[in-house]
Amino acid sequence: NKGCKLVGCGSAVPSLSVSNDDLAKIVDTSDEWISVRTGIRNRRVISGKENLRNLAVEAAKKALKMANFEPDDLDLILLCTSTPEDIFGDAPKVQRELGCTKSQLAHDITAACSGFVLGLFSASCYIKGGGFRNVLVIGADVVSRFVDWTDRGTCILFGDAAGAVVLQACDAKEDGLLSFDLHSDGEGARHLGAPINDNENGSVLEFPPNRSSYACIQMNGKEVFRFAVRCVPQSIESALEKAGLTASNIDWLLLHQANQRIIDAVATRLEFPPEKVISNLANYGNTSAASIPLALDEAVRSGKVKPGHTIVAAGFGAGLTWGSAVIRW
Ligand code: ACO
Repeated sequence: NKGCKLVGCGSAVPSLSVSNDDLAKIVDTSDEWISVRTGIRNRRVISGKENLRNLAVEAAKKALKMANFEPDDLDLILLCTSTPEDIFGDAPKVQRELGCTKSQLAHDITAACSGFVLGLFSASCYIKGGGFRNVLVIGADVVSRFVDWTDRGTCILFGDAAGAVVLQACDAKEDGLLSFDLHSDGEGARHLGAPINDNENGSVLEFPPNRSSYACIQMNGKEVFRFAVRCVPQSIESALEKAGLTASNIDWLLLHQANQRIIDAVATRLEFPPEKVISNLANYGNTSAASIPLALDEAVRSGKVKPGHTIVAAGFGAGLTWGSAVIRW
């Protein structure tokens, strides 16, 4: 296989909508502070029986339907998530819940807000180098389970969601994944994470070790902001160069939806006019690995993104990780 094309997308969000005013009832904040600093107005948060897997399955079913695929047409499922229901991975359970019966491969990919871009790259390698034909890539996160809901510096930012795309092997001339640029830097990990609680001082564990638990998300917002505005434009420029394109050839800029000020700063740096920038952050907040496929799905279904359009997408976040992809829809 020389190429892989995108043939379907889908998304799912929880039913409970939480506004900035709702948050102002539980932490010392205001709608004005949150909207001015972040652009976020609402976010969806799981409740009742909702969880990561059923959001992932719902998004996947919609993507399969758009692609006109049955679950057993798939030979690979990649679930990009950093908030699994099971630390050993959820992808095989999503595979079962979708109704796949052929024991096709399914596995998780952990790279926080860059997860979906890495998922696309993995799918392209599996297809172009590994003989796989039909691949489902899901980006899904339920960050609400790992947020300290008493910390106004972080709890205002995040929402839960899932998004998915279906990729199919094709001729090189129909290729929909044109180039990638991918990075990580563990030095910056201290600025953003949800680390394991025990043994944090490097102390020697007793035998038997205690059961582990994870800390809530800890973030240095200013450092993450600086990192994103510095690294994302460089990465996008490098992906564009590899594809032999410039910003003026691109129909849409689709960034991980973390903060409207980051999106605006990157768009300005790369000279993308506002009408070419996809943003749905106001409605959903930062949905981590789900944000790019969720925004893509809305843009495709609303008719903004049309067949043949070229999109440059970039993810960035914990790790630190970041990366860009040039996509043809
Ligand atoms: N409501 C009201 N006041 C607040 C709130 C809040 N929700 N949060 C912080 N403040 C206060 C602070 O206490 C501080 O008060 P002080 O001046 O009295 O000390 C003041 O507001 C300024 O706080 P900063 O943290 O300096 O505010 P900043 O302008 O940096 O904005 C923000 C914070 C919105 C988090 C910003 O830094 C940001 O968006 N950074 C990027 C982070 C990001 O995108 N993270 C997502 C993770 S990346 C990924 O996707 C995994």
